[in-house]
Formats: sequence, C-alpha cells, structure tokens
Amino acid sequence: MYKPSNFPSHVTLVDVGPRDGLQNEGRPVDAADKIALVHRLQDAGLRQIEVTSFVSPKWVPQMADNAEVMAGIQRMEGVRYSVLTPNMKGFEGALAAGADEVVIFAAASEAFSQRNINCSIAESIERFRPVVDAAKATGKRVRAAVSCALGCPYQGEVTVEAVEDVVKRLLDIGSDHIGIADTIGVGTAGRVKAVMERALKHVPLAELSGHFHDTYGQALTNIYGCLELGIHTFDTSVAGLGGCPYAKGATGNVATEDVVYLLHGLGIHTGIKLEKLVDAADFISGVLGRKPVSRVSNALLAKRAHPTH
Ligand code: HMG
Ligand code: MG
Repeated sequence: MYKPSNFPSHVTLVDVGPRDGLQNEGRPVDAADKIALVHRLQDAGLRQIEVTSFVSPKWVPQMADNAEVMAGIQRMEGVRYSVLTPNMKGFEGALAAGADEVVIFAAASEAFSQRNINCSIAESIERFRPVVDAAKATGKRVRAAVSCALGCPYQGEVTVEAVEDVVKRLLDIGSDHIGIADTIGVGTAGRVKAVMERALKHVPLAELSGHFHDTYGQALTNIYGCLELGIHTFDTSVAGLGGCPYAKGATGNVATEDVVYLLHGLGIHTGIKLEKLVDAADFISGVLGRKPVSRVSNALLAKRAHPTH
C-alpha cells in the first residue's frame, strides 16, 4: 500500500447528503425518497448520517418534512443520525424525533451569519448555548459547524483568527465536536491546513472534521492535506449533492464516492462498500433526474454499462 505512515488507518465519513444535499434542491423530493436514501446509505456502511434539519420551513421549505423523514427511518444499530438545530425550537423537534446528535452552525463571517440565520455571530452563540445545555441534559452529542471558514460569499476573505475565535466560542459553550466548513469551496490545501492547525490548538484531533464544498474542485486535495495532519473525520455527500441556499453558486459537498475511492486507494479503512454507495448515488440522482456529481460514480456506472472498458 502507498499510505504514508503518518496517515490515519481509519477515516469516518459523515454523509450529509440527505440534509446539505437535499436542502438545496429546487424541485421537491418526497419524504419516501429521502428515507430510501438514508436506508441505502446505512446499507452501504455509513455509520453517521446527517438526515435533515429542524430549521424554519419558511426559510428552508425543502426540510419541512423533517419529522416525517426521521419517523420513517428504520434505525440500524450503530448508526448515528444527526440533524441541524439552529435554536431551541429546532432542538425540541430534534428531541421529539429521536436524533442522536444535533448540529449547531455558526459562521466565521458576520455577513454570512446575518444571511443564514438572521443574527450576528455573538447572538448565534447565545442562541446555541441553551441548545447545547439541553442536548447535554438529554444525553445528545453536539457537533458544531464553522461556516465560511475559508471564505465568505458576501465579505470575501475570512481570517484564520476569525475562525479560531468562533471555534473557541463554540467549545466554550460545550460543543463536543468542531467541523471546519468551506461553505463556498474556495479553499486550497495550504490554507486549509493553516486553518486546521489553528483549530487543533483547541480541538482534539478526534473531534475535528472538515466539510468541503467542491465548487473549485479542491475538496479532495484539501482532504489529503487534512490526512497529512492526522485528521480522520470528514463530512461528504453522496453523489456530490448539495450547496447552501444562502451561498448561491456554491456547489455540493465533495462526493462520498470520490472520497471513499481516494481513501481505499491509500489503504485507509472506511467500512463503506463502494459499489453499494454508487447504487445509492445512482438512486438519488435518478430521483433528481440527473447524473451524480461524482467522477467515481460516473466511471463505475459507465463500467457497469460497458463492462469491457
Ligand atoms: P428568524 O426569522 O430570525 O426566527 O429565523 P424567529 O425566531 O423570528 O422565527 C420566525 C418564524 O420561524 C416563527 O414562525 C418561528 O416559530 C419559526 P411564525 O411565528 O412566523 O409562524 N421558527 C421555526 N420553525 C421551525 N423550526 C425552527 C424554527 N425557528 C423559528 N427551528 C432561523 C431564524 C434560524 C430560524 C432561520 O434563519 C432559519 O431557519 N434559517 C435556516 C438556516 C439554514 O437552514 N441554512 C442552511 C443550513 S446551514 C448550512 O448549510 C451550512 C453547513 O452545511 C456548513 C457549511 O457548509 O458552511 C452546516
Ligand atoms: Mg455545507
């Protein structure tokens, strides 16, 4: 195998496709299809799935069926089902739906915070404080995402110091895990590593992850850079679904299939069965009426159609 010795031997992928992916679709996706996608992901070996978000249906109507989707999933033992919760109302919905983990999301950019959740960064942290307290009191894990950590669609550059400040604030209120998110996919590997190294001053390696949208095609390289630092958890999205309604033009997260192919090629274990994952990508892409945004899925689907190539 060609794995550098300092690379992790196992990487955990959190598939955020059902949430980050489907929150951005113009056409409505039936709850039954969302549920079927979650089932296919767990069958493929995903053990962490971000299912939906308990946000305002006026802001993100695509996730209005959150409770129905959560209720329809046949839970598999050992799978962690997470949901986004922007405030206490969202947390109450998440709790009633039996989510294992809640995800709070602050921005490293003031402009994005206002557009995304209609308040300043400082106000958002105060809104999340009772959510984290309530999560702790009910035995739920809290993952915190730092949006726009590599750049903002409204204010442009975001400093490493601004990211560090939000990371510290999210840890101060009790978050268990920090995800560094490149919401608009502008980051390149050197800068990503600089941001991650700064975050690692405060966050244990096992509780730091990367969430890379692939707008500029840098996500796989950014993940490779993170592996060099020993980081071993990443959010990815089946079929490369996704984007953010408040970051127009940003494309989906890096496709789970592409990351699995990279990791397996490096001899890194994921517990994921690539062919089954491609089935999941093919399924949801069929529902959406387009091809997967994944080079690996498209290559393997072409190979299935023309086995001699
Ligand atoms: P607001 O309008 O300031 O809130 O929105 P409000 O408290 O004034 O409430 C307004 C209305 O929404 C009220 O209803 C509330 O009850 C209702 P009304 O009285 O008008 O009928 N409401 C809710 N309903 C259901 N669930 C809730 C909820 N909260 C309030 N939880 C708010 C503030 C945060 C709610 C709003 O801005 C919102 O929902 N924003 C959605 C943000 C979002 O989902 N963005 C996309 C996900 S984040 C993302 O993709 C980034 C990430 O992937 C990482 C990365 O890539 O960067 C995680
Ligand atoms: Mg995202």
